[in-house]
Amino acid sequence: MGWVHRRRDHGGVIFVDLRDREGIAQVVFNPEINPQIHEQAHRIRNEFVLAVKGTVRGRPFDMINPNISTGEIEVMADELEILNTSKTPPFVLEDDADISENIRLKYRYLDLRRHCMQKNLLLRNRIAVETRNYFQSNGFIEIETPFLTKSTPEGARDYLVPSRVNQGMFFALPQSPQLFKQLLMVSGFDRYYQIVKCFRDEDLRADRQPEFTQIDIEMSFISEDDIISVNEGLIAHIFETCLDRRVATPFPRITYQEAISRFGKDNPDIRFGLELKDLTDILKKSKFQVFAEAAGSGGVIKAIKVDDGTRLSRKDLDDLVDFVGIYGAKGLAWARIKDSEWTSPIFKYLTPEEVKAVNAAMEANPGDVILIVADTPGVAHDALGNLRVHLANKLKLIESDIFAFTWITEFPMFEYSEREKRLMATHHPFTSPMEADVPLLDTAPEKVRARAYDLVLNGSEIGGGSIRIHRQDVQSKIFSVLNLTEEETKSKFGFLLEALEYGTPPHGGIAFGFDRIVMLMTGSESIRDVIAFPKTQKATCLLTDAPSQVSLEQLMELSLKTT
Ligand code: AMO
Ligand code: AMP
Repeated sequence: MGWVHRRRDHGGVIFVDLRDREGIAQVVFNPEINPQIHEQAHRIRNEFVLAVKGTVRGRPFDMINPNISTGEIEVMADELEILNTSKTPPFVLEDDADISENIRLKYRYLDLRRHCMQKNLLLRNRIAVETRNYFQSNGFIEIETPFLTKSTPEGARDYLVPSRVNQGMFFALPQSPQLFKQLLMVSGFDRYYQIVKCFRDEDLRADRQPEFTQIDIEMSFISEDDIISVNEGLIAHIFETCLDRRVATPFPRITYQEAISRFGKDNPDIRFGLELKDLTDILKKSKFQVFAEAAGSGGVIKAIKVDDGTRLSRKDLDDLVDFVGIYGAKGLAWARIKDSEWTSPIFKYLTPEEVKAVNAAMEANPGDVILIVADTPGVAHDALGNLRVHLANKLKLIESDIFAFTWITEFPMFEYSEREKRLMATHHPFTSPMEADVPLLDTAPEKVRARAYDLVLNGSEIGGGSIRIHRQDVQSKIFSVLNLTEEETKSKFGFLLEALEYGTPPHGGIAFGFDRIVMLMTGSESIRDVIAFPKTQKATCLLTDAPSQVSLEQLMELSLKTT
């Protein structure tokens, strides 16, 4: 039984490719063998639902199709029942069909019939099953946590749900189970995991959805190394069982500082070079005003080298200047190296010693191109970090089919928010500071490093977590650095603070973006291709037309008014 993928009428014999989720089987209706059902087969159209009985036989040698797994056989039909007819679908259900995503999402149930989408969801299922197998065999238990809950501080806006019973009050859908999994540690469930939906009202991108799935983990009596090795084990297990790929563990670890300095990003793609080099010391006294000024005011002068610059035309270089502008860089100085000579708009400003020192620092050979940005550290790293990825794509430097993992460690505890004009927790406010940095909480909180870690795969942040604070006094200290009053903290997470006073074990955890992992493992371009019913970039569902207006009665029951 299945759907008619294609019907070919060879003016006599009729061939039907019958499809189910495993693939396609060729069914043959031969008028000489069974004229009655051959006659019936004339009525068949694409996407009709059929039940066929027949005899499986080897195909004639010249009809073997080596491209599909059933290409050597066919079914000679004896019986045919048309279980249902179908309207002509609005698009062809082929993998390589060029269909607008809006149409695909509107008719998602048809889009999901396509082989590529079925493959993605089948693999997604495999990964979920193997995730559960791994944790179950390592003594973890899966515990569900509520969806109707209180706001959790993961940094995005909450989705709110009005309460009818308690008018004027709202639940928040969880941005993650963070607080509940910590409470489960207090309760003694020392190895918890959950495959769980999370909800975040934030600006969407190709790898973000308003509701997405986490593999959420928490453990007691552990160190960073324990969490890292258990989770490297998970990744190795799912890659081996679901993709038949061995991944080498342990994964490299790079501190946040080093990641920013070498790659310009805290989610570096380490599959290619083009690392950032620091030229501040060499060029800080340069006669080129821009460099001297940047270095003199706390900025940096950093650069990337491209081997064999013939691949970059003059027009390309101009485009790169525009590209870094997106990230706020005021310019991009480029230089084509010819030993002690450069072809470059800034060559005239530099001394021969400076040129020589830059060549040496960049390990530049004749023919290479150097690209320099002088700016605040934030802008310079952002611009060059993104330029690095842009160049790697443009120059095809990224070997596909490689999975390059790296842990990023020692994140800063706090970052300054221009919007809120205060320090905010980089990860979340329950993250433990590094022991050595605790004294800095009073003197220089912006220098405090957290016991937090992210896992990055091919330049994509697939997971993040931390060792938590398990002592009430340290937790209060962090809240005071965050400028949260006792009243605020009590109303927001008083229940957690209270729990910390009842014998909380040292604990920590991590959460993986499950959709992102599936996206990378299936080689998908968009997170929407691995979610059965995703939202659009504008957080709408084109299939059901959600969100939508509700009736006046519903609003009145909730005592809500809309404008
Ligand atoms: P964090 O906020 O880093 O940590 O989230 C964990 C991982 O979830 C994925 N992710 C998303 N995936 C798709 N769409 C989104 N909108 C989205 N937002 C996040 C990312 C990210 O690495 N409670 C902590 C974990 C912990 O400390 O244990 C947390 O949620 O891959
Ligand atoms: P000018 O002498 O003004 O033509 O500038 C020489 C080069 O310096 C141009 O290629 C500019 O793009 C580049 N430039 C300008 N500002 C910066 C900056 N902040 N960092 C790096 N290069 C810059």
